[in-house]
Amino acid sequence: MKIQKAIHPLRGEITVPGDKSISHRAVMFGALAEGTTRVTNFLQGADCLSTISCFRKLGIQIENNTKEILIHGKGLHGLSAPSEILDTGNSGTTTRLISGILAGQDFSSTLTGDASIQSRPMGRIIKPLSMMGASIESVKGNNCAPLTIQGHSLHSIHYDSPVASAQVKSCVLLAGLYGDGITSVTEPYLSRNHTELMLSHFGAEITSEGSTASIKPDPKLHGLDISVPGDISSAAYFLVAGLLVPGSEILIKNVGVNPTRDGILRVCKAMSADIQLVNTSISAGETTADILVRYSPLHGTVIEGELIPTLIDEIPVIAVLAAFAEGTTIIRNAEELKVKESNRLDIMVKELTAMGCDIEGTDDGMIIHGGKPLHGSVIDSRLDHRIAMSFAVAGLAAEGETTIERSECVEISYPEFYQDLNKLNC
Ligand code: S3P
Repeated sequence: MKIQKAIHPLRGEITVPGDKSISHRAVMFGALAEGTTRVTNFLQGADCLSTISCFRKLGIQIENNTKEILIHGKGLHGLSAPSEILDTGNSGTTTRLISGILAGQDFSSTLTGDASIQSRPMGRIIKPLSMMGASIESVKGNNCAPLTIQGHSLHSIHYDSPVASAQVKSCVLLAGLYGDGITSVTEPYLSRNHTELMLSHFGAEITSEGSTASIKPDPKLHGLDISVPGDISSAAYFLVAGLLVPGSEILIKNVGVNPTRDGILRVCKAMSADIQLVNTSISAGETTADILVRYSPLHGTVIEGELIPTLIDEIPVIAVLAAFAEGTTIIRNAEELKVKESNRLDIMVKELTAMGCDIEGTDDGMIIHGGKPLHGSVIDSRLDHRIAMSFAVAGLAAEGETTIERSECVEISYPEFYQDLNKLNC
């Protein structure tokens, strides 16, 4: 994919696809509920299709006519043994959340995914699931997938998670559905809380206090209608593009702005961005709004601590934003970036440097001395969707031409990304 520097302002309205985290959970929890769950605005990205495919292999009938998804749930104990390996593709959320569910079944299963998934850390779920009495093993003994899980009844635990990770938290809470008492998880900082919000709407008894979530076992979950809000992680690319291209004004419609996900908005405002939220509403605990963004001259900021989990997937595109902002931006406590779909920390430092940015990597983040003009470059996405989209946005603001290699990986979370970007940039 080739991107030229934008010569006109980006103007107009855009509707981004449904939230990835919420789409995954709708399928998973719908499968465990009794009756039909109807999901609209489901993200038809490869990751969420992996979740559908895994649950079909576990005996759940799922109709996908793209406009809506119907999940014919069979209750907490209704899954059946898969006759083949469960393929979670590129999806960490599928892999880690489904492991919590499989740990409580009365059958065994094996799951694995692509090369990226097979190198991502699974020790972080093997440890708490083993504490609950689950038999879960890394086939190659390297704490990565493939994983074999022999399900059985589980003990409830309190888990002090060393990482602020919604995937770890959700894995333990889902295993807790099959526990013998209250299961709780405390994280260093609160991570996205879609599991807590959605499971309680399905009928689970789940409580949250600060960064601790607790769940009671064996609830009766019932099918629901779910309307998935637009994904703020996808909106982030248009937010940044609108801020960087002079004269731009973009209205991004129906975006999920749950406070555990809205860190990018707070960072943009701290950098003096002209951003307004309009038409705010709340449905099933999830807040949505239209985001109006206008081109703004920006300055650097510091991003650290409890803010990090609220914008973890947006850090690559925030680094692009910081590269064009006047002054220094410091990102700390973001070591989790090294174990995402790729090592996003190293890649952002290397490729922004190649575009002429003054940036240095640190052990847990980066320091960006912004404001120098960037020039186009050839960027390999490393098959990481967020790297591809971040550099597509950088290319709009950099001089000359930027080429994104293996750009098709955007299909993971935003299949129509380049078409939508073109609609605004013409
Ligand atoms: C997700 C949690 C985050 C995020 C990922 C989606 C989820 O991962 O980066 O894209 O849906 O729970 P971690 O739990 O590893 O932080």
